[in-house]
Amino acid sequence: MVRTDRIPNPGFPPERLRVTDLDPKKEKQAERTISALFFLSIVGSVLAVAAYILFPIDELDPGSIRLNNMFLGIGITLGLLGVGIGAVHWSKALMHGHELVEQRHPTRGSDESRERAVEIFSEANAESGFTRRTLVRNSLIGAVVATPIPAIALFRDLAPAEDPVALLKHTMWEAGTRLARDPSGTPIKASEVTIGSAFHVIPEGLAELESHRLEEKAKAAVLLMRLPVDELNEDPAKADWSYDGIVAYSKICTHVGCPVALYEQQTHHLLCPCHQSQFDVANHCEVIFGPAARPLPQLPITVDEEGYLVAQSDFTEPVGPSFWERAL
Ligand code: FES
Repeated sequence: MVRTDRIPNPGFPPERLRVTDLDPKKEKQAERTISALFFLSIVGSVLAVAAYILFPIDELDPGSIRLNNMFLGIGITLGLLGVGIGAVHWSKALMHGHELVEQRHPTRGSDESRERAVEIFSEANAESGFTRRTLVRNSLIGAVVATPIPAIALFRDLAPAEDPVALLKHTMWEAGTRLARDPSGTPIKASEVTIGSAFHVIPEGLAELESHRLEEKAKAAVLLMRLPVDELNEDPAKADWSYDGIVAYSKICTHVGCPVALYEQQTHHLLCPCHQSQFDVANHCEVIFGPAARPLPQLPITVDEEGYLVAQSDFTEPVGPSFWERAL
């Protein structure tokens, strides 16, 4: 026995026709409004790209950042709002407004329901006018294509303008650059480096750089230590890279690039606090524990005629974590 519902299905209320259903002039007006919104979106996207090019950011001029961000924001806002509001207005004003009920059915529909689906698509196409209203459709396609363009331009410029491999392989160090204290930039004399001491070092002149100072520091930071000469087991090929027991190694961990900041003077071990890699300074900074895959690169040093420690050259291998072109 099948029990009938105690509350009968009231069905849908009668459809209320909109002004655009009743008045062809209003319908045409809505169509123009929608197209205008999509065109506005295109203009906004183009404006964003133009603003990005016409108002470049000058690191030394905070006003340029404000101008760049303001016009970029206005452009992207118009681009997104135009396409969004236009699409909503299209569905509210022009697409058919009657309510539908979709019955549940097995995942794969019967042949009849599949045919019906095709019919529904055809009806939706006819009702929305997607193929008939070519102006609206084409302006929508234009807006959708133009909207991601600012993102492409912005993300493209996140990559360095120069060759990234060359940028990673070279640092500020060159022959004759004095080793200076971090952060004061005061040059260090060999006589100031006592046995057991460790200095955090930057290239002299880094503090005066007007741009890319942090990027250069991130590559050129060095640790300087002095060990008793008889405890230093140097690589014969690098025997003249140290000066009277004073050695300089990159401070950038060869695992993933954290600063190797902890020096244990009794054992001569350097510890990277990020993942506990340990390097043995007495044995050319070979890895004795942890995930780092190679020793810290050594900076060849000597002294100048005034007794200041200077680099003999740049590092002879890339500093920091391994990267895909390291062997090139
Ligand atoms: S970054 Fe140094 S151990 Fe991971």
